[in-house]
Amino acid sequence: MQMNSLEDLFVTELKDLYSAEKQLLKALPKMAKAANSKSLQNGFNKHLRQTEGHVSRLEKVFDELGASPRGKKCQAMEGLIEEGQEIIDEDADPNVKDAGLIAAAQKVEHYEIAGYGTVRTYANLLNHKRAASLLQQTLDEEGETDKTLSQLAEHINVSAEQPNGKTARNGRRSSEKSITAKVKDAVGL
Ligand SMILES: [Fe+2]
Repeated sequence: MQMNSLEDLFVTELKDLYSAEKQLLKALPKMAKAANSKSLQNGFNKHLRQTEGHVSRLEKVFDELGASPRGKKCQAMEGLIEEGQEIIDEDADPNVKDAGLIAAAQKVEHYEIAGYGTVRTYANLLNHKRAASLLQQTLDEEGETDKTLSQLAEHINVSAEQPNGKTARNGRRSSEKSITAKVKDAVGL
């Protein structure tokens, strides 16, 4: 598409976010299913419902602009989701897998926070007040989700570090391993 103005860039960035959110809608149920902790499962399921809201807010923004949300694939989100899938596929200690899922989810949130911060600022500059307000609401929810994940990580990362008496795949007791070693194991490093 033509990119000769900030308005063109605004629409392009919105399309990228729309693609990112649609991809995330498919990924979150898989992450919830893979989570061991009930609180983490609930967190992913809550964010799935919020993400449905994010998609419909973006559709409202596109309506206001008279533009189509389609036509761009967010490659960054595709990559982030692939990395999340690698964690899901790992044969890992459940607490370590949860720690890895949180890490993957926070990367997604930070990507979205960057994206929504940018389009909210463009909307203000371009005087699209309704769009700016809708995008700010989503930006706030992404920020809250990131904080919730950090709070969950405080417990889950500690659980991942605690001795649990299980034998790791390399034969050592997992209680002897540091969290770094466990996470490296979980992601296949
Ligand atoms: Fe979102």
